[in-house]
Amino acid sequence: MSGLGRGGVSAGRDSKAMTSSAIVASGLRKAYGDRIVLDGIDLDVPAATVFSLLGPNGAGKTTTVNILTTLLRPDGGTARVAGHDIGGETRAVRAAIGVTGQFASVDDLLTGAENLRLMADLQHLGGRAGKRVVDELLARFDLGEAAGKRASTYSGGMRRKLDLAMTLVGRPRIIFLDEPTTGLDPRSRRTMWDIVRELVADGMTIFLTTQYLEEADQLADRIAVLDQGRLVAEGTAAELKRQVPGSHVRLRFADAGRLDSAARVLAGSTPDRDGLVLRVPGDGDVRSLRFLLDRLDEYSIDVEEFSVHTPDLDDVFLALTGHSSTEVTSA
Ligand SMILES: Nc1ncnc2c1ncn2[C@@H]1O[C@H](COP(=O)(O)OP(=O)(O)OP(=O)(O)O)[C@@H](O)[C@H]1O
Ligand SMILES: [Mg+2]
Repeated sequence: MSGLGRGGVSAGRDSKAMTSSAIVASGLRKAYGDRIVLDGIDLDVPAATVFSLLGPNGAGKTTTVNILTTLLRPDGGTARVAGHDIGGETRAVRAAIGVTGQFASVDDLLTGAENLRLMADLQHLGGRAGKRVVDELLARFDLGEAAGKRASTYSGGMRRKLDLAMTLVGRPRIIFLDEPTTGLDPRSRRTMWDIVRELVADGMTIFLTTQYLEEADQLADRIAVLDQGRLVAEGTAAELKRQVPGSHVRLRFADAGRLDSAARVLAGSTPDRDGLVLRVPGDGDVRSLRFLLDRLDEYSIDVEEFSVHTPDLDDVFLALTGHSSTEVTSA
């Protein structure tokens, strides 16, 4: 982490304050009793980008969101959101942001349209303007048909969409999405991703937490990896992937004899005798693959299974934290 000053963000209400950083945080700390939950978090989120805070259960993602959205006071550190101080200017911060929490804030007893209208009323959007915003959002989120049905009858994906639509009623410039796709099936997840992409294209800034590496990879301009209250890495997906050992080809053999023969003829390879797998460094391009297979052919060594492995964010997580992203580390 470097260069995380308040560069370029002025405290003014001028929208130009948004041209550089939408969110800047420095040294955020939070503890519950003697349990340190956030241990000095620095963030810098450029406007009109997707920033993903990636971390396993209990890493401190929701705590970070709650602090940045003024729902929770930090024990230490400072942050400015949309140019406003989260400590002294909570109203201004709240006016600029929208929050879709980890647990949906949809009212089950109301219909989709009623939930949206309630938000419009809370935003003091009077009659016609309110109705227009509600209708637009229902159409945009493909909820028109379900608009008159109670939210209790909605599927998980529909609820998430309605929840996000409710967040958008106030036309926020910055949106916080806390695990927006947890529990959704692949199709609903993709719909949500498309929506996020559209919002960013419209100039919104999205602060998104996720425990899914693929989601951060798909959506985020920048990713910060949070592990037990500390940021262990920050960068683009490509930058993070560069931090782990490179690509390799995996070859599995029927027996140890073949494995050993192959290890002898393939320079730089590492055998795993338990799994009967040979790991050969290389980026898996056609030329090197052909060379590799020709070489095995030349020595009449049969291969049972063959795969090219390029590092993904899972490897990054493992390399950075020493444990996999799915392991529960605390609680
Ligand atoms: N009000 C609280 N009192 C005590 N401990 C808390 C409180 N809120 C959160 N914690 C603890 O702080 C840690 C971080 O919690 P947080 O909810 O920020 O994690 P998270 O990254 O959002 O996890 P998840 O992926 O499960 O939502 C957890 O160990 C949690 O038990
Ligand atoms: Mg959470």
